[in-house]
Amino acid sequence: MSIVDLKEAVAALRAGDVVAIPTETVYGLAGRIDREQTLRQIFAVKQRPFFDPLIVHVAELAQARALTAEWPEIFDDLARAFWPGPLTLVAPKTDAVSSLITSGLDTVALRCPRHQLALEIIRQVGVPLAGPSANRFGRTSPTRAQDVKDEFVDEVSVVDGGPCEIGLESTVIQAQRQGDTWKIGILRPGGVSRAQLQAVLEPKYKVEIERLHSVASPGHLKAHYQPTNPVVIVRGPIPEDKAPIEHALSRPLERVHTLILPATPELAARTLYAEFRRLSEQPGAIVVQQIAANSGPDWEAIWDRIERASSARI
Ligand code: TXA
Ligand code: MG
Repeated sequence: MSIVDLKEAVAALRAGDVVAIPTETVYGLAGRIDREQTLRQIFAVKQRPFFDPLIVHVAELAQARALTAEWPEIFDDLARAFWPGPLTLVAPKTDAVSSLITSGLDTVALRCPRHQLALEIIRQVGVPLAGPSANRFGRTSPTRAQDVKDEFVDEVSVVDGGPCEIGLESTVIQAQRQGDTWKIGILRPGGVSRAQLQAVLEPKYKVEIERLHSVASPGHLKAHYQPTNPVVIVRGPIPEDKAPIEHALSRPLERVHTLILPATPELAARTLYAEFRRLSEQPGAIVVQQIAANSGPDWEAIWDRIERASSARI
């Protein structure tokens, strides 16, 4: 496993290798979408089951549209507002998109990342890149090149693009028109909030935005994003000794680490996964306190990840 530069990454990706690349959300395990062998390699390295579909990363809108059989007009407004950026759009696919990518679904998830290196790599490879987060299945996503190295040791090369600006995965949505209303389904909350979607769409359309808990987005299995230490969500005061946490996890603990969420959702997103990792360096449990000041709609994506990462709540 080594750190590679842009040129080396482009050459490797062109040749069909899998390379970890930075994006503004989290690092991704990239591979060209037109090689079956490369796609299989992504699943193998990640130890990801084939029922969990991959996001396709493009450098521009036209590249995304070329992979879709239908493109809701509302996606043009969303792409104009949020691309490049942390929004993934799910639309009916063309036959050119391998069913390995979509796990047999007839839709494909598309995103144009905002990181300059990612954009340049996709442009120079000349083919869209599949890119799940660069972690083993079910584990915490990487937000630094070192996290990818720690996870995969010498299995994949990584391009170091510095720490990720957003720190949490993209928001994944689908859109359907029903009469005069656009129904936006949030399959995974993420880097673009509900309020940001509303601000762009409501002046122009009648929209209803709802959270979907769909089998179509199985990345949303209950247990996901788990650090190596168990996470316990505490509502109310943090217990002064570890007994209630041990009781909640039904096992003795060497210590209890407290994860203090920063004051804004942006900062909390940026630091969450790095904190999960840091607080797993020594065995124990991680407690996170849920209070009014860190709840509410702007914190939806953060609590989605903490909840999926958690083993208990008290
Ligand atoms: O920010 C991100 O989105 C990062 C960076 C690397 O771009 N990527 C990422 O990929 O988080 P991954 O594979 O870890 O998560 C992709 C999510 C999965 O939960 C998957 O179920 C969902 O997107 N997904 C992919 N294709 C889908 C589809 N056709 N319909 C519904 N959900 C889909
Ligand atoms: Mg992931």
